[in-house]
Amino acid sequence: MRDQIRVCNDPETLAAHARDWLVQLIVLHQRDSQVPFTLALAGGSTPKRMYELFAELPNDVIDWKRVILLWGDERNVPYDASDSNYRMVKEALLDQVAIPAENIMAVPDPGQPAEKAADAYELLLREKLHSGKSRGFPKLNCVLLGIGNDVHTASLFPDTLALSEKSRIAVANQVPKLDTWRISFSAPMINSAQNVAFLIAGETKEEALSTLWHAEQNPNLYPAQMVRPNEGQLWFMLDKAALGSTPLPKSVMVQMI
Ligand code: 6PG
Repeated sequence: MRDQIRVCNDPETLAAHARDWLVQLIVLHQRDSQVPFTLALAGGSTPKRMYELFAELPNDVIDWKRVILLWGDERNVPYDASDSNYRMVKEALLDQVAIPAENIMAVPDPGQPAEKAADAYELLLREKLHSGKSRGFPKLNCVLLGIGNDVHTASLFPDTLALSEKSRIAVANQVPKLDTWRISFSAPMINSAQNVAFLIAGETKEEALSTLWHAEQNPNLYPAQMVRPNEGQLWFMLDKAALGSTPLPKSVMVQMI
């Protein structure tokens, strides 16, 4: 399956296009299936505007009773902490839409010791989304990702232990360079999804994107290189600043928005 690249003029156009793209995925799924659409949200600052634009949709576009929201990663902080990914999504989206509480599958008590939070998240997702099976991975409909300047994604940071996780859905990851712990989807969990979409904006991301696409394969150094859906579609939603002068990879589908 050829990677799909969308290049938008600016961050606002990117947020609007990414919102419309994701709405179409959800609406088509809800037209054809009663099974809830499972969406893992990215943290950080880039996706916030897109989440806000979801909240501006008319109430009848998405049946939020048939959407399950998860977090691809979370900081090891309480839900109300200023740097909580849950709090960012709550303020941008959850407080504005009628999504049932049971459909919001956030990392349980993320301020507790990270390994306990990761274990609780693992248990929750295996029970709710994988029929309680202890092996394999639930196939989410969509996983949204960002990328850091160090080419990390989710909370899979360079040269950290979580990069070698092969069987867990969610892992605690100590990040020495940030002097912190995170909770993150593992790479195999991300790669089990039907759609995986990087949302990348701003000139500060140009080098990371170029490294992701064109540097030698070195996932320990460039963890975002681990993202390669097993059977699903990989998307890059970019603004022109993030693309910069980076040559496009070979054999991709590109659309200038
Ligand atoms: C997090 C993210 C992380 C983020 C990148 C990009 O919790 O911070 O999940 O992987 O996506 O660091 O962050 P920005 O969008 O803020 O540049």
